[in-house]
Amino acid sequence: MDKKFQRTLVTTALPYANGPVHIGHLAGVYVPADIYVRYLRLKGEEVIHIGGSDEHGVPITIRAKKEGVSPQDVVDKYHYLIKKSFEEFGISFDIYSRTSSNIHKKTASDFFLELHNKGEFVEKTSEQYYDEEAQMFLADRYIMGECPHCGNQNAYGDQCESCGTSLSPTDLKNPRSTISGSKPVMRETKHWYLPLDKHEEWLRKWILEDHKEWKANVYGQCKSWLDMGLQPRAVSRDLDWGVPIPLPDAKGKVLYVWFDAPIGYISNTKELLPDSWEKWWKQEDTRLIHFIGKDNIVFHCIVFPAMLKAEGSYILPENVPANEFLNLEGDKISTSRNWAVWLHEYLEDFPGKQDVLRYVLTANAPETKDNDFTWKDFQARNNNELVAILGNFINRALVLTQKYFNGKVPPIHELTDYDKQTLAEFADVKMAVESSLDTFRFRDALKEAMNLARIGNKYLADTEPWKLAKTDMARVETILNLSLQITANLAIAFEPFLPFSVDKMRNFINVKNLSWEQLGSVDILPAGHQLGTAELLFEKIEDDAIEKQIQKLLDTKKANEIAEHKVAPQKPTVTFDDFTKLDIRVGTVLECQKVPKTDKLLQFLLDDGMGKRTIISGIAAHYKPEDLIGKQVCFIANLAPRKMKGIESQGMILSVENADGSLSLIQPSKEVGPGSPVV
Ligand code: 2FM
Ligand code: ZN
Repeated sequence: MDKKFQRTLVTTALPYANGPVHIGHLAGVYVPADIYVRYLRLKGEEVIHIGGSDEHGVPITIRAKKEGVSPQDVVDKYHYLIKKSFEEFGISFDIYSRTSSNIHKKTASDFFLELHNKGEFVEKTSEQYYDEEAQMFLADRYIMGECPHCGNQNAYGDQCESCGTSLSPTDLKNPRSTISGSKPVMRETKHWYLPLDKHEEWLRKWILEDHKEWKANVYGQCKSWLDMGLQPRAVSRDLDWGVPIPLPDAKGKVLYVWFDAPIGYISNTKELLPDSWEKWWKQEDTRLIHFIGKDNIVFHCIVFPAMLKAEGSYILPENVPANEFLNLEGDKISTSRNWAVWLHEYLEDFPGKQDVLRYVLTANAPETKDNDFTWKDFQARNNNELVAILGNFINRALVLTQKYFNGKVPPIHELTDYDKQTLAEFADVKMAVESSLDTFRFRDALKEAMNLARIGNKYLADTEPWKLAKTDMARVETILNLSLQITANLAIAFEPFLPFSVDKMRNFINVKNLSWEQLGSVDILPAGHQLGTAELLFEKIEDDAIEKQIQKLLDTKKANEIAEHKVAPQKPTVTFDDFTKLDIRVGTVLECQKVPKTDKLLQFLLDDGMGKRTIISGIAAHYKPEDLIGKQVCFIANLAPRKMKGIESQGMILSVENADGSLSLIQPSKEVGPGSPVV
């Protein structure tokens, strides 16, 4: 660590307690932060990791309204669910608390008062939408109306989800309150503003000159905010859920959630360390690092630092390594559209496979740009990397030691040039992993750690100790000694990334504690040391398990499309000539029966005007075969024949798919001669 600093305070964005957590949360924030704190701990550095739930704000009240319960019920339910998911995935917080705690309410309220007393706010009265029926001011999300850009009737006061435009409530045509449905009126209300414009100058210098090392996505976003010019930001809201504004003339007003949430980092540190929290927040030798997602950049790089500076006694963040977003199978992850892999559901389907997900999310982390999670990639990385490289190497090293040396570390003898060459490759790994971790490049760090397993795998494959066992036992001893030292190194290098597997690895090699300092050394396990018992570290994930997950997402997509009454997107344009290539005709059903051992397929025999033809069609779930005999259907006559379940299908019967997924056959509206073309 930089000499300037004695300790590191890591914070992770406080997730809204309005829903469970999903892979996007893990990939964007919590896994990288956990890798980082585990790494620092392993190096013996003083570090704490502060987390908790964000329990105020409109997202919570909206969820409560939707579920017909109180906001407190919502946060109680989700806080514990989120906390449990993080525990299950090994996210090693020193504290995971919540912003509805008393200590937080007092800390946030006092912080506001301090700034108020110092004259750091400006007070302004403005007009805002008010619902006279519900007798309340309306948060932007509580107002709906017509989008001025695309005409969507259900645009929100802050954004149109149809065309993606950011809006303010007064942009909406025909606004309505989502609370009572009534037309809101404009009413005056007073709020407290943090004058960010007054902070702009020092912020510019602090970020743009003194923190050029920040990640390009973070630096770039800050620069564009600063270049646009900062505006005063309201730190209060008219809402009945939150920390009340601690002033006499502020009835019905609470702190804006983005004012109180980051103070949650301070409150949670106080709760953890009531006597020494100030050392972590007020001493210049503490290095403060905020792990967040890209939507939180402005709050952590501009607004919160301005709050801390205005207060005057706090340090500022040293780095804010924000990630971009993780998409899921090509679409944006969305809680409201249930387009996510929820952590608690993942564990039901893949029990004990926390590290597999941690691995995949790190290997494919959205560090520099948005990335996509796909189940096929998940399977491939598990099978081709964790199983085939890391697991395979460790297993071979341990099983061979068991076989030839009863599980005792053999002695090492003279090294060959090839041994030396292998050790030379391996010597660079420590520096490579470290320099990546120190600069928040977790994907690269993981790649380097995996490289160590690759080196080991290649070493065993090239030296083939199993072939030498009859002729040169001394050589086998050396090879396995080195392989076991590499195994011990893997247990160090992977500790930040795969904590559950490394626990097992330490048991396999029968070593309780390993430190980062030992990484790169080849004398971790002394000759004669008795190893523990080995089992498989990772297992192959079969196609069925992956197909089940993909099907689950397809079902979600369908359900969403029905809910949104969407029609399938139009396919690319074809020419008339393209169209006429298709020979579509009418046929009369002569025979129809279910294809044995299938749920979906019907076998048709059609009179096609020229003779008889067999066609297989996937509509068994929608028609009884006997009802179709004698009916007329449309079919593609010139489709290349295909074999299905051993039967040759000579064309395709046309049907329509309704939004609910049901199929209905296309039939001529009056009887025609079999073989008549569709024109
Ligand atoms: O975006 C979010 O989920 C916010 N709840 C993050 C808050 S981070 C911090 F300020 F607490
Ligand atoms: Zn729109």
